[in-house]
Amino acid sequence: MNILLLGSGGREHALAWKIAQNTGVKNLFIAPGNAGTAGVGTNVNISVNDFPAQKAFVLENNVDMVVVGPEDPLVNGVYDFFKADSETSHIPVIGPSKAGAKIEGSKDFAKAFMDRHRIPTARYFSVTKSNFQEGIIFLQSLKPPYVLKADGLAAGKGVLIIDDLAEAEKELGNMLNGSFGNAGSTVVIEEFLSGIECSLFVMTDGKSYKILPEAKDYKRIGVGDTGLNTGGMGAVSPVSFADDVFMKKVEERIVIPTIEGLKSENIDYKGFIFIGLINVNGEPMVIEYNCRMGDPETEVVMLRIKSDLVDLLDGIAKGNLGNKNLITDERFATTVMLVSGGYPGGYEKGKVIGGLDKVRDSIVFHAGTRIENDRVLTNGGRVMAVSSYGRTKEEALKISFKNAQTIDFEGKYFRSDIGFDL
Ligand code: AMP
Ligand code: GLY
Repeated sequence: MNILLLGSGGREHALAWKIAQNTGVKNLFIAPGNAGTAGVGTNVNISVNDFPAQKAFVLENNVDMVVVGPEDPLVNGVYDFFKADSETSHIPVIGPSKAGAKIEGSKDFAKAFMDRHRIPTARYFSVTKSNFQEGIIFLQSLKPPYVLKADGLAAGKGVLIIDDLAEAEKELGNMLNGSFGNAGSTVVIEEFLSGIECSLFVMTDGKSYKILPEAKDYKRIGVGDTGLNTGGMGAVSPVSFADDVFMKKVEERIVIPTIEGLKSENIDYKGFIFIGLINVNGEPMVIEYNCRMGDPETEVVMLRIKSDLVDLLDGIAKGNLGNKNLITDERFATTVMLVSGGYPGGYEKGKVIGGLDKVRDSIVFHAGTRIENDRVLTNGGRVMAVSSYGRTKEEALKISFKNAQTIDFEGKYFRSDIGFDL
């Protein structure tokens, strides 16, 4: 079997690592990939949004399955592109259709979907320039802080949480006037929910589903979850508060209605659903949906799946996921992200990464790296996710932190408190 995986981050290296464990996979191609994915497959210099180039490559190389990592190509319709073309319609694309990707691509769509299917989420109101005054009235009806979300994709930066009403009103105007580009031409105002968050991942073939191990990520740059938002600084799995009682509520109130809702609306969805959950006094609510796996959550979730991932992906493709067995690893998994100095602001690339040969007992997933003259260089803000197993969370973290210290590049930074709040 030949597989093409789209993406170039830590999530894709983790997916590639897991896919490559299946001995039936003859060729694993990653487009465009990074220095890490080059170690488990073959990188291909094609962008995730260049569908015609992907088609040509898939046909030329007898690719049997396309697995999509990031949201961008999904929201842009990569699934639909392959399906609509008679030369590629027989090749399964793991990821939702463009209509399904709207659960991430439009916050307004996601909120309305949750309302239609009575899925617990924060109260909201969607605003455009034409109903601005109603938006202001809704804002005034809420207690601070105020949550404003750009409707469209904004690379994880489209959410503002503001304490002061006057400032929130002003920002609402700014967003509608283009401070987030087109993504903010509709703004979702939400009631603020107070609680602890975790990420849940569901695989579906459109009929049945499998709930993957949950994880918690750490979004802010600073210790104690302070400072600017990042793509994610680390993750742990399992999450202590996601116990059986909580997870039963999640499955009954959120997962099943989500799958049934997609089905009843005839939305073609064969892929991963990422459900951003918040635990409000023991009751799960949805903060957001994403149409893909999380990053860096995937770097711990893949460690905790014992079953063959390719077999599960095949179940998604063939519509027999319900017959597959998902076996999870009982151990804890943690990942600590090494980032470039200055990130999430400006940072330099091209720093030589040393110490990789001295890493013991961790699996290092590359996020932003490239190879030049046999040297591994930094090539992004998030550089590497140092992932480890342990009998306890503390044991796994100890190994991740030790190796995070061992790996070296100029300006390296990592959060030394991943998992601190659990
Ligand atoms: P999102 O992009 O929708 O995941 O939002 C980014 C982050 O903003 C979330 O992970 C939460 O920490 C926070 N957030 C979003 N919506 C709410 C809400 N309604 N109440 C509290 N926090 C929120
Ligand atoms: N870790 C959050 C995300 O992937 O969006």
